[in-house]
Amino acid sequence: MTSLAEPSVTVSGQHLAQRNERLGTWVEDVARLTLPDRVVWCDGSAREYQELCDLLVDAGTFVRLNPERRPRSFLARSAPGDVARVESRTFICSERQQDAGPTNNWREPAQMRAELDGVFAGSMRGRTMYVVPFSMGPVGSPLAEIGVELTDSPYVVVSMHLMTRVGAAVLDQLGSDGDFVPAVHSVGMPLVDPDGTARADVPWPCNETKYIVHFPESREIWSFGSGYGGNALLGKKCFALRIASVMGRDGGWLAEHMLLLRLTSPEGRDYHLAAAFPSACGKTNLAMVRPTLPGWSAQTLGDDIVWMRPGPDGGLRAINPEAGFFGVAPGTGETTNPTAIAMVASDTIFTNVALTDDGDVWWEGLTERVPDHLVDWTGQDWTPASGRPAAHPNSRFTVSADRCPAIAPDWEDPAGVRVDAILVGGRRATNVPLVTQARDWAHGVFLGATISSEQTAAAEGTVGTLRRDPFAMLPFCGYHMGDHWAHWLEVGARLGAGAPAIFAVNWFRKGADGRYLWPGYGENSRVLAWVVGRLEGSAAAVDSPVGLLPAPGALDVTGIDVDPEQVSELLDVDPAAWLAEADATAEWFETFGDRLPPQVAAELTGLRQRLAERL
Ligand code: OXD
Ligand code: MN
Repeated sequence: MTSLAEPSVTVSGQHLAQRNERLGTWVEDVARLTLPDRVVWCDGSAREYQELCDLLVDAGTFVRLNPERRPRSFLARSAPGDVARVESRTFICSERQQDAGPTNNWREPAQMRAELDGVFAGSMRGRTMYVVPFSMGPVGSPLAEIGVELTDSPYVVVSMHLMTRVGAAVLDQLGSDGDFVPAVHSVGMPLVDPDGTARADVPWPCNETKYIVHFPESREIWSFGSGYGGNALLGKKCFALRIASVMGRDGGWLAEHMLLLRLTSPEGRDYHLAAAFPSACGKTNLAMVRPTLPGWSAQTLGDDIVWMRPGPDGGLRAINPEAGFFGVAPGTGETTNPTAIAMVASDTIFTNVALTDDGDVWWEGLTERVPDHLVDWTGQDWTPASGRPAAHPNSRFTVSADRCPAIAPDWEDPAGVRVDAILVGGRRATNVPLVTQARDWAHGVFLGATISSEQTAAAEGTVGTLRRDPFAMLPFCGYHMGDHWAHWLEVGARLGAGAPAIFAVNWFRKGADGRYLWPGYGENSRVLAWVVGRLEGSAAAVDSPVGLLPAPGALDVTGIDVDPEQVSELLDVDPAAWLAEADATAEWFETFGDRLPPQVAAELTGLRQRLAERL
C-alpha cells in the first residue's frame, strides 16, 4: 500500500497502472475531488470477485442463495427509488446544443461540469474507490475499445466483472499511451460528512438526485446517485452506446442497440443477423431463440449491443462489445426462453427478484405455478393474494456470457462476424406487417428511422399513439438523431454491394379480436428462414408500398396453428391507415429540421406516392 493525494488515503494495486500516465493522473484527480478512504485497483481475478461478493453479503447488499438450488449466486434488493434507467436525468453535454438534437437532454458543458464538481466533491468520503479497467470487446480486438470506471460501489465492480472484460490484461493492452474512456461513478452517499460526522452504511446506498452525464467530444462519462443497471454499469448504455455512437460517427462505424445471432440452415450454412428492437420487445428471447423449424439451429452472440465496422472484405464486421447478459427476469421462463433459464442456473447475480422459502429466486413468468409464499423484491412477505408483483417489473439477472448454453463457440473471436442481414422492429398491434424487406439500403434506413411502438395503458401518454424509437436508439444515441440516419446512409454508401440486406419485423400484430396473430418465440425462426431465403435468392417475395413481403406460400407455417387467412392478416397493408401514419411521420420528421437527411425525406415521399396509387 502506498499513499496517494491525502495522507489518509491508502492505495492497493497501483502497480497495475504505473505505465499509463494519463490514467494515473486522472485517478488521482478524481480521488482528490471525491475523497475516498481507499483506492483499489481491480485486477479482474476470480479471487477479487469472490472477495467482493463476500463483502457484499456482509454489508447486507447481497443475500447468498441456497448453494444447492442456485450455486454461487446472489440476490440484491435495490432501494425502491433506484430501479431503472433515469432518462429524465440523462444528459448529452455536447459543445453545441444542435449536436445533441431534439431527442436528447442537453446541458451546456461548462455549467454541467461546475454542477458535477459540486455533487462529486467529497461524495466518496468513508468509502473505497475501485479502479475498474475494462475492455468492450475481446481484449486487443481491432473492434474493441477500452474504458476505466472509477466507482464507490462494489456491486458495480462485480457486475462489471460479469458484463465486461476487467483487469490487468486490459491495462497491458492500454500500455503507456493507449486511449481510454474515463467513466466516474458514485452512489452519492458519503459515509462521513465534511465536519467528520460518520454515518452507517445501508444495503443499497444511492442519492435521490441523479446525474447520468456524457461529454461526447471528450468521451467522458460522469454518473451520480444511482447504483442500478445502465445508470451505474457504465460500460453498457453510457459507453457502448452513447459515447461509442459518437466515436462511430467520427470513425466510420456503428454502435447500435441490437442483438447478434448466428442462424444455421438445414444445409449447414451460417448467417449472421443483427436486430434492433426497443427495450422490452424480447431481444434476449430472440438472441437465444430455439428454432422450431426442422433442420435450423441458432447460436447466441449478443443480446443488447452490437458494434459494426466496414471490414477489409467489403462487408460489415460485428462484435458484441459486452461479455455478459443483464436481462429482464419477469417473463423469462421455460416456454419463452429455456436457454436463459439454463444460463442462470448458477453463477448469477439477481437484482429485485423475489426470494423463495428455500433460498432460491422467483419472478412472474418463471413457473406457471405461483409459490404460496415469497419474500418480495422490497423484502416483505408476499402471497398470491398480496395484489402486487413479487419481482419488480425491471428486475434483472446478471450473468457471464459463457454460462449461456447457446453461446457461439467463437463468440470471443477478435475479428467478429460478417453481418448478412439487419432486422429492425417495434411492438405494433396494427399496420406493420410480420416481415418486410427493404427495397435497398436507403429504404432500410427509413425503416430503422421510423421504428415505433403503440403506447399501452401501462405507460404515460395516450393509448394508441405512437412512441417513436428510431433504430431503438431513442435513449441511447449520443448525438443528433438526424445525423445518426445520415451516418447510416454514409456507411451504406461505403459498403455498396457488401451491405447487408435490411428487414422490418413485427411479432406483435393483433387481429380484430385483440389476440396476437403470430405465436412468436421459437416460431420466429420461420420468419428468419424467409429472411435467409431472400439472401439466398430462393424465397419468393411480392412488392407492396411498404416493401417486399413474403409471396403467398413463401412463409413456412406447416405444423403450426396459423391459417392462410391469419398469414394474410399478418402481411396486410392498408393504404389508408398507412397514409395516416405517413402524415404522422411527416410531422415528426419536421422536429429534425435541416438535419433530416434528404434521402430519408425522399423515402417518405416515395412511400406516400406508392400508397396513394393503391387507394
Ligand atoms: C436495457 C434497455 O436495459 O434497453 O437493455 O433498457
Ligand atoms: Mn437494451
